[in-house]
Amino acid sequence: MASTKTQVLIVGATGYIGGSILSELLRSPDRSTFTISALIRRPEQAKILEALGVGSLLFQGLDDLNACRDAASQHDVIINAASASHDTSAKALIEGLALRQKITNRDAYFIHTSGTSILGDHPYTGASSEYKIWSDEKDNIYEMEKQHPERYGQRVTDVTVVETGLEVGVKTYIVVPPTIYGKGSGPFATLSQQIPNLARMAKKRGSAAVIETGKATWNHVHMSDLSAFYLRLFQAARDQPKWLPSGPKAIFFVESGEHTWLQVSQGIADAMHKKGLLATNQVESVSLKKVAAAITKGNESLAEISLASNSRARADFGRNQLGWSTSRGLDDFLTHFDAEIEAMLPELTSEQLS
Ligand SMILES: NC(=O)c1ccc[n+]([C@@H]2O[C@H](COP(=O)([O-])OP(=O)(O)OC[C@H]3O[C@@H](n4cnc5c(N)ncnc54)[C@H](OP(=O)(O)O)[C@@H]3O)[C@@H](O)[C@H]2O)c1
Repeated sequence: MASTKTQVLIVGATGYIGGSILSELLRSPDRSTFTISALIRRPEQAKILEALGVGSLLFQGLDDLNACRDAASQHDVIINAASASHDTSAKALIEGLALRQKITNRDAYFIHTSGTSILGDHPYTGASSEYKIWSDEKDNIYEMEKQHPERYGQRVTDVTVVETGLEVGVKTYIVVPPTIYGKGSGPFATLSQQIPNLARMAKKRGSAAVIETGKATWNHVHMSDLSAFYLRLFQAARDQPKWLPSGPKAIFFVESGEHTWLQVSQGIADAMHKKGLLATNQVESVSLKKVAAAITKGNESLAEISLASNSRARADFGRNQLGWSTSRGLDDFLTHFDAEIEAMLPELTSEQLS
């Protein structure tokens, strides 16, 4: 007889976000009502997952679209935290869920991970939107992404997720995290992206840098607050309360406050200086052109969106409907840098980065 448990698949379970979601699901009070599998590309990780009670499905990677579709067709809920910019795999996963719906005659759900760089403006090379704060309840995020004049992988993928879901009749939900900080709780990768990448850059240069003035503003969220949001959303998707939108209206922000890029660079400079990794805690302003040449093959627009833009959002849906909240404020973010650098010490003190 077919299992009545909800079959959950995590794509990206070996990563920072996906691994933390996996740990959150494993700790969930209703854990006995669902099974968890992970779609992974490295066979050696299967044993560690198995010890946690998590099944593994192997594939070559996100370009292996048939494997994505097949794996999806064996599950009721997919949480995708592998790549925010891989539209073809997202489409294949949703198509697989549509097959699953036909086989089981019950609804299947797709929870996708995007990122708030979808809101990023161009304060140095184009128009600034420093005063615009996006609400996931009041603004039409989907329409903004669809109509946006600049082609950007994360927006293309979000639009593909919504449109494929509507086409094949699978309900989709998109979580849009800002800068995520704090140690991940997953079994493999536990470091985030933006802050560790800036710390690596500081180690290579010998001092912390900020692009241009660094006065543009972004949001942040602690990884444990973010994984708590995913758990609530997962539970809501299974329960389908009346207040839960899907598709174009289900693009959700998660944040606990705002910082400037200069605050990030100064936090990194102070923490690395204290540990003797930098000779100074001075932050040097570097031109966008120079940073783009170093990290985005000269693509200034991309470097600006990722590391110098304004991107301001409010998690209104989470706070008003989902029952999500956080007690962490700006202080928690501004004082976390010591821990982040501590967690990176083996890497920052290794020969390779010098
Ligand atoms: N961290 C942040 O602050 C943040 C904020 C907003 C949005 N995001 C976005 O969220 C996504 C996940 O971020 P993360 O920080 O969790 O990254 P991560 O730690 O690098 O994890 C990525 C996960 O996806 C898998 N993956 C990536 N590319 C793949 C491919 N081509 N084929 C198969 N598996 C692949 C990785 O598998 P392996 O273990 O096999 O490599 C890993 O499980 C990214 O797109 C990122 O841009 C991140």
